[in-house]
Amino acid sequence: MASQTAVYIVGARGYSGQVLVQLCQRHPEIKLAGLCVTDASWSPSETFPFLSGVPALDVDSVLNTLSKDDCVFLATPAGASNSLAPKFLDAGAKVIDLSGAFRLPPDERGSWYPLDWPADLDFSSIAFGIQPFDSPSQQTRLVSNPGCYATASMLALIPLLKASLIETDWVVVDAKSGVTGAGRKATESLLFSEVDEDFRAYRVFKHQHQPEIEYTCQRLTGQEVSLQFTTHLVPMKQGLQVSLYAKSKSTSLDIDTLLKAYQDAFEQDPFVRVEAFESDQGESVLAKTAMVKGSPYAGIACAVSKGQVFVSCVIDNLWKGAASQAIQNFNAIYGLDSWSGLVEVGDS
Ligand SMILES: NC(=O)c1ccc[n+]([C@@H]2O[C@H](COP(=O)([O-])OP(=O)(O)OC[C@H]3O[C@@H](n4cnc5c(N)ncnc54)[C@H](OP(=O)(O)O)[C@@H]3O)[C@@H](O)[C@H]2O)c1
Repeated sequence: MASQTAVYIVGARGYSGQVLVQLCQRHPEIKLAGLCVTDASWSPSETFPFLSGVPALDVDSVLNTLSKDDCVFLATPAGASNSLAPKFLDAGAKVIDLSGAFRLPPDERGSWYPLDWPADLDFSSIAFGIQPFDSPSQQTRLVSNPGCYATASMLALIPLLKASLIETDWVVVDAKSGVTGAGRKATESLLFSEVDEDFRAYRVFKHQHQPEIEYTCQRLTGQEVSLQFTTHLVPMKQGLQVSLYAKSKSTSLDIDTLLKAYQDAFEQDPFVRVEAFESDQGESVLAKTAMVKGSPYAGIACAVSKGQVFVSCVIDNLWKGAASQAIQNFNAIYGLDSWSGLVEVGDS
């Protein structure tokens, strides 16, 4: 690539936006050209004391400033993304949206995202970006980055479907996330004094990532999965774990065949590591949220016994579940290596 790509981040002081700023700042092919927040008096140094030379801009200034093929990351709620993405696309930018606004077809968004579909936006032109199963091309103008729960769930589930190893009439995905998964807005139920030393299920049968997982599994594998998907809030800041339970098609399924399904699926991917739960202690070092915190990695561990399959997948919700996967999608649409700009730096 001849020169760096100018990148703008809308929602820069939100939790995902903050990680995106860090990642863009050190990406060799990115020039961070502007940060957008909703407060005109905000200065980047309030949130990023070590960042220099990157201006705070409002949306109109970005629209007036950007050149064709510059990139805009939308780290905004679905309603904001729904109205902002078409404007940036019309101005010639490529857009990577972290919200759920464009993850489901217009006729399936329904009550999950009660928004009017933008006029002139063709759903078939949008690339979904679950890495490594999707890889948006350099022709892509709008990437829809997957949800955090959906990412970990699909990394655990899709290899099993591709290898036809499990029954699909009832798959349980039991998912837990740290509190940053809910974003930075002030909400009483997310106060420290409410979540500390508490553990709860929420949005039971009502979580918007369930249709996203079902739709994407069908799209990528042609299989319809009947999913029981439950989300839980864990009293920690960052990290997400899913436990997947399924019945194998064959009662003689062994761990080598199970492991091979994951190894085949992630052979070319630098960010997903796989192992079996140790047979003596039934433990895995890899599938611990602490191992992936502040990193672009996903850890998967699997086990099988008497036809019962168990898979654990861990990610950092703000990294692989949001910002670092968005950078992988940036790399894909600008023709760069998937790992470009993504090195492990510890806690974010
Ligand atoms: N948190 C996660 O683990 C995670 C994972 C995957 C995907 N996501 C998705 O990524 C998006 C951002 O999530 P988040 O957790 O980072 O949220 P967040 O911490 O609540 O930040 C959202 C940001 O959006 C900005 N914003 C809100 N309305 C806006 C508008 N109308 N115009 C411009 N900016 C607006 C806010 O800016 P101001 O601060 O300036 O008001 C805020 O900083 C959401 O769609 C979320 O569903 C989040």
